[in-house]
Amino acid sequence: MYLITGGCGYIGSHIAYQILKENKNSKIIILDNLSTGVLGNIKNIEKFFNVSIKFYKGDIRNRTLVKKILNQNKVTTLIHLAGMKSISESLIKLEDYYECNVKGSIVLLSEIFKSGVNNILFSSSATVYGSKNKTPYREDMLTYPESPYAISKKITEELLKSYSLKYKNSSIAILRYFNPIGLSPSGILKLSHKSDHNNLIPNLIRAFKEKEVKVEIYGNDYDTKDGTCVRDYIHIDDLVEGHTRALKYISNRNGFYIWNLGSQKGYSVLEVVNSFEKILKKKISKEISPRRNGDLDKFWSNCNKAKKQLNWKARKNLLHMLQDTWKYNNK
Ligand SMILES: NC(=O)c1ccc[n+]([C@@H]2O[C@H](COP(=O)([O-])OP(=O)(O)OC[C@H]3O[C@@H](n4cnc5c(N)ncnc54)[C@H](O)[C@@H]3O)[C@@H](O)[C@H]2O)c1
Repeated sequence: MYLITGGCGYIGSHIAYQILKENKNSKIIILDNLSTGVLGNIKNIEKFFNVSIKFYKGDIRNRTLVKKILNQNKVTTLIHLAGMKSISESLIKLEDYYECNVKGSIVLLSEIFKSGVNNILFSSSATVYGSKNKTPYREDMLTYPESPYAISKKITEELLKSYSLKYKNSSIAILRYFNPIGLSPSGILKLSHKSDHNNLIPNLIRAFKEKEVKVEIYGNDYDTKDGTCVRDYIHIDDLVEGHTRALKYISNRNGFYIWNLGSQKGYSVLEVVNSFEKILKKKISKEISPRRNGDLDKFWSNCNKAKKQLNWKARKNLLHMLQDTWKYNNK
């Protein structure tokens, strides 16, 4: 039985969908405080597969609730995604990020290990590498997180590493995501209206739908091919497949593992905007805004480790990612 924290969010709902797609008899429980998540996505998954997903509305910091969930259900695997996720916001709401991402993980994980659950997947982030590393980022590089958000991810990684020393029979996978975009071609999962509108994709969708909205490009003076930030975008379907491969890998091995999940390619923000315009055959207004605090100029992944150990590789390209985002968010 899987417990997915943050399961109503963008990535969590896609993981729930994929687990059921691979095995309709899988049992899933979700713990989510709905701060950004969408319960409708889970309801759609239930309808689509004709299954029921047990949902607990609440916070990972609520120890009593976490204990209750673990007492009431035979959880075998934790997929821990709940958390706050904006780099720039983390510099403003610094304490909230540590409260939610670090304290929340301490509360959740202490109860998880006490209850004997020892298969764990954690959503970490490529931001743990930091600008001191040369791109492409590899898992064996030292990490230099440069924002409270990235530090909160790194601390949780270290926390899990410490648990792996204490609980020798645990199997822990840290997945360092690059920039997931796109939507599942099932058409049943939508982007949250509560998602961060400073993010490129929600901002682009609004700009294509609403004439008066301009797409904001944060900084055009970075040391990159066209001056805008370069990121490693990965299709959400590829990302979630990385999770199911990692789950299989750790299901018969103890230990602590780290894998990058990216497409190994860097696209600039302007390239993404231009590609979207080409797909939709429509020009949108763009506005160059000041750089956002904490943004790095360019980075992308080296995923050789995941390829070798998980037999996993991202397959979909930028066009798939953008086409699917548009088509399935509006379906
Ligand atoms: N989307 C990305 O670009 C990206 C990149 C790297 C890492 N990640 C990590 O992946 C995870 C999921 O990201 P996402 O894009 O799906 O974000 P999301 O905001 O869509 O999902 C996060 C979910 O967690 C829930 N949540 C937040 N704080 C909670 C708390 N304290 N208790 C219970 N539920 C809580 C929210 O309601 C939401 O449903 C996050 O941990 C994020 O840091 C995301």
